[in-house]
Amino acid sequence: MAFLSLFRALVLSSLAASALSARPYKHGLTPHFYDYVCPQALPAIKRVVEAAVQQERRMGASLLRLHFHDCFVNGCDGSVLLDPTPTIDSEKFAAPNNNSARGFEVIDQIKAEVDRVCGRPVVSCADILAVAARDSVVALGGPSWKVRLGRRDSTMASRTAANNDMPTPNMDLPSLINNFKRQGLKVKDLVALSGAHTIGFAQCLNFRNRIFNDSNIDKAFAKNLRSFCPRTGSNTNLASLDPTPARFDTLYYNNLLSQKGLLHSDQALSTGESALELVKSYSYNYEAFWKDFAKSIVRMGNIKPLIGNQGQIRSNCRRVN
Ligand code: HEM
Ligand SMILES: *[C@@H]1O[C@H](CO)[C@@H](O)[C@H](O)[C@H]1NC(C)=O
Ligand SMILES: *[C@@H]1O[C@H](CO)[C@@H](O)[C@H](O)[C@H]1NC(C)=O
Repeated sequence: MAFLSLFRALVLSSLAASALSARPYKHGLTPHFYDYVCPQALPAIKRVVEAAVQQERRMGASLLRLHFHDCFVNGCDGSVLLDPTPTIDSEKFAAPNNNSARGFEVIDQIKAEVDRVCGRPVVSCADILAVAARDSVVALGGPSWKVRLGRRDSTMASRTAANNDMPTPNMDLPSLINNFKRQGLKVKDLVALSGAHTIGFAQCLNFRNRIFNDSNIDKAFAKNLRSFCPRTGSNTNLASLDPTPARFDTLYYNNLLSQKGLLHSDQALSTGESALELVKSYSYNYEAFWKDFAKSIVRMGNIKPLIGNQGQIRSNCRRVN
């Protein structure tokens, strides 16, 4: 009996070791990170995401966006989830997030459920964001991909970094390209990942400038939007980012070709030759869009993760331990 359990311990530890080192993988992240530590973790995340999206379709968009806002600010380290304290400069109040980023309660639910099924806090909040983003896209009819895992959670946040590093909806193509470049991402990543705007909504204050001032906008489209997003007031009125905000389809790109992008930054993708070529190809080839979106979001998920014994595994995604 003692021998048997020693034997099992050896097999298990060598399996765990091989899960961590058998094949070379980028940035120390691997899709198999939780296979032996807690195989129930990923199915649990999927269950909670599916229930949340069933209850409110928009939640899929909101969860996908959280992973993006996490990764672009000091890497994918769960920093976007931290609430303010005297020592935490919460990113939730940065301009791109304040009254805009949402889904934090769903992340709390996922964390509670994952820790319950695993019996202890072994799954990082940063990994939860990455998996929830994938499961959200799948729940809204989009592609799936293997999420690389093993990120750990930061012990700090930076509102300043969030303000400086997130792209803004008024950016032109060169600024967008430069913003993504600073994250190690290419034009193709920019165009493919902007396809995330095939789902979800934006507030009037983020597209007012476009509907009143841009010339590369469909006239009827602009006029219609101006009726509920006037020059002043109604800042929080919502418009869908494409005509099918709960379906991960290619209409976002089709709309760019007819000058019906909602954000100035969306329409900007049709203003440069190499970006426009990609917009065109994604507009009629959902397989190309899906494949490139999956590739690019994995690349985004690799941005500066904390690994090994860096950072921590938070018990509560809103607070450092
Ligand atoms: C390329 C630069 C980008 C800019 C300037 C940008 C900007 C914005 C803005 C202004 C909104 C509306 C927020 C509001 O009105 O409250 C929004 C929504 C959204 N963004 Fe982006 N975004 C960009 C790229 C991305 C990327 C890379 C992703 C994910 C991979 C993403 C996912 C989303 C989603 C899903 C929504 C809808 C969220 C919801 O309905 O709750 N965006 N974005
Ligand atoms: C965030 O939004 C609230 C309004 O809901 C506002 O009072 C506050 O000043 C904003 N914070 C920052 C830092 O802009
Ligand atoms: C349109 O552009 C002008 C000049 O740049 C600016 O003053 C004005 O605030 C803009 N209008 C809107 C609705 O953003």
